Amino acid sequence: MLDPAEELKELERLSLRRRMYEVESPQAAEIVVEGKRYINFSSNDYLGLAQHPEVIEAFRQGLSKWGAGSGASRLISGSLSPHLQLEQRLAAWKGKSACRVFANGYSTSLGVVSGLLGKDDVVILDKLSHASLIDGAKLSGATIRIFPHNHVGKLQSLLEKYKSHSGRVLVVTEAVFSMDGDLAALREIVRLKEEYNALLLVDEAHALGVRGTMGLAQELGLSGSVDLHMGTLGKAAGVAGGYLACEEELAELIIHKSRSFIYSTAPPPAQCVAALKALEIIHAEEGTQLRNRLWGNIQLFAKLMQMEVWPESAIIPISIGESKRALEMSSALREQGVIVPAVRYPTVPRNTARLRVTISAAHRREHLEALAKLLLDR
Ligand SMILES: Cc1ncc(COP(=O)(O)O)c(C=O)c1O
Repeated sequence: MLDPAEELKELERLSLRRRMYEVESPQAAEIVVEGKRYINFSSNDYLGLAQHPEVIEAFRQGLSKWGAGSGASRLISGSLSPHLQLEQRLAAWKGKSACRVFANGYSTSLGVVSGLLGKDDVVILDKLSHASLIDGAKLSGATIRIFPHNHVGKLQSLLEKYKSHSGRVLVVTEAVFSMDGDLAALREIVRLKEEYNALLLVDEAHALGVRGTMGLAQELGLSGSVDLHMGTLGKAAGVAGGYLACEEELAELIIHKSRSFIYSTAPPPAQCVAALKALEIIHAEEGTQLRNRLWGNIQLFAKLMQMEVWPESAIIPISIGESKRALEMSSALREQGVIVPAVRYPTVPRNTARLRVTISAAHRREHLEALAKLLLDR
């Protein structure tokens, strides 16, 4: 049996050892670590809503009214009104008849993919799909097929192969890819899924509030063609929780089949109250202003960096290659007062380590200028 200390030593040798650190201030554009203030480019709080006074106040009021916890799974102790209100509003915003909220996005993907598919089904995933989607696929026992990132030709040949398949065929993609920041070829994917009568799941984790109000499918006018809209309320919505918006029958199946929904305590009601407030802000004039500010920041950073390819989201990877080098660069930036995580294997393929810069509406010009200068001077 491999000794854990040996295993950790091996990870260290490969520059794949991970370390967590304590943040002594709230998650924001500037954070305090070990008493020192840093500019933070590691958070997915794209619109700065984690610190929005109205979201915090909604959380507080939710706590006063509903208490701290939900008590049990909703199948055991019932749905509290905030669960249902959040689901109804999410369904309406997504243009679907139903929605289910989960404790987080990971358990949503895991429960949805493993719950709706079984050994007689086929799941076809973009190669860069998030770990939660891959884990759900593995857990389902379905036949797993992978197409190279955004390679619609390969997707088509896989759909062709399974076109007479008697079980379900589910195509899975992210809307904005979490480690590359690029977009799914959603128009082509929708065209294929319709041609071959397959189901389509789109993970909008990094697109909600960034691409349109509710994500890429909505921005492109494709919401109606996406069967399963999955996402998290922990990134641009600034709170926590996961959701699946879909039609009634599929949502009904979730409460029979999705083990992460059935066998898990429902999210705290106050969390749902706060998430709903964040979504209301995203849909209001203020949300448009925040999104405009975010895109202004993304464009300013791209200009400062003289990027040739314009970013498609708030995730801007700086490609490095070797894990060791990425770690060294992340440490050097940190010594100069800026936090940018080094993302390495297994989060990204081997030898494609990168610095993952995430931009927020909460960043100020001087934050972006400071990072761009450090990166250009390296
Ligand atoms: C693409 C993608 N899907 C799902 C998740 C999981 O969401 P959550 O953080 O709410 O568990 C994440 C990130 O964590 C993600 O990046």
